[in-house]
Amino acid sequence: MKTAVILPAAGVGRRFNGGDDAGPSKVEMTLAGKAVFVRAIELFLRRPEVSDVLLAVHPEKLEAFALRWGDTLRFLGVRLVAGGTVERWETVAKALAEVPAHCTHVAVHDAARPMTSDALIERVFAAAATHDAVIPALPVTSTLKRVKELDTASEPPADPLDAILGDAGKAGGDPGGDPGAEVRQVVETVPRAGLVAVETPQVFAVGLLRRAYAQVSEGRFDAAGVTDDASLVEALGEPVYVVEGETENLKLTRAADVALCEAILAKRAGDASQSRKRLFGDDDEDE
Ligand code: CTP
Ligand code: MG
Repeated sequence: MKTAVILPAAGVGRRFNGGDDAGPSKVEMTLAGKAVFVRAIELFLRRPEVSDVLLAVHPEKLEAFALRWGDTLRFLGVRLVAGGTVERWETVAKALAEVPAHCTHVAVHDAARPMTSDALIERVFAAAATHDAVIPALPVTSTLKRVKELDTASEPPADPLDAILGDAGKAGGDPGGDPGAEVRQVVETVPRAGLVAVETPQVFAVGLLRRAYAQVSEGRFDAAGVTDDASLVEALGEPVYVVEGETENLKLTRAADVALCEAILAKRAGDASQSRKRLFGDDDEDE
């Protein structure tokens, strides 16, 4: 198994930056002393199955990124490539075109997902030795409901006083007075039995992933809104296999995820120092 790892890092991080398209890059931010995308790269560097690592960044930011991180990337042996501008699948499609011919497999892993354990990566690669499309996922634990925007036509008639007083006429705590408190309506509860929440890395036989992407480039499948690679394999009608994911395999999506990741990293560092103490004898025993 000779695997190329593609790390899509070309997103603008709109949700992370509170809706701002031009905010700072979430994958370049420092998390416990190391850039998020460097953490994601390092997950794969010691793997015997990995022969190539490609990091795909926004084409308009490629030059500046290379200037800032060129030395680090050379040191890590990572190739920088131009990704897409809008959708994640565009980024992966462009990186896939750069995967060397000697590769038998491709692993796609979000550059914004820096916490993946070695055990999870091991599980995915082990299954990929015998299955051509493998993804990690966990059963959904939340109660799921489909919601819709409020149908304003069926809302109670507006208070005529509002026209005169506007928000000034509303009592404090009225959700209608807070533009941030969006109210939507439940359409239905979606049974969660059999549903899983999907993570990365997703590993594919290279020929299968190329066929999956060819159906998009040749106009046979509309990938608008597709957010993972397995979806394109599913669209071919080919089977996709699931191994167990993990709750700590977080993707930095919103700003609040930073504190979660930092807390997990601190706990892991604490656990590691505890087990070092157990191995080599702790300070108390020297006294
Ligand atoms: N990604 C990418 N190219 C895109 C969009 C996303 O390479 N055109 C990458 C992101 O950089 C990230 C991963 O795909 O590493 C997962 O995407 P997501 O968490 O959605 O990141 P963003 O698209 O940057 O965030 P948002 O959707 O909030 O704008
Ligand atoms: Mg996105």
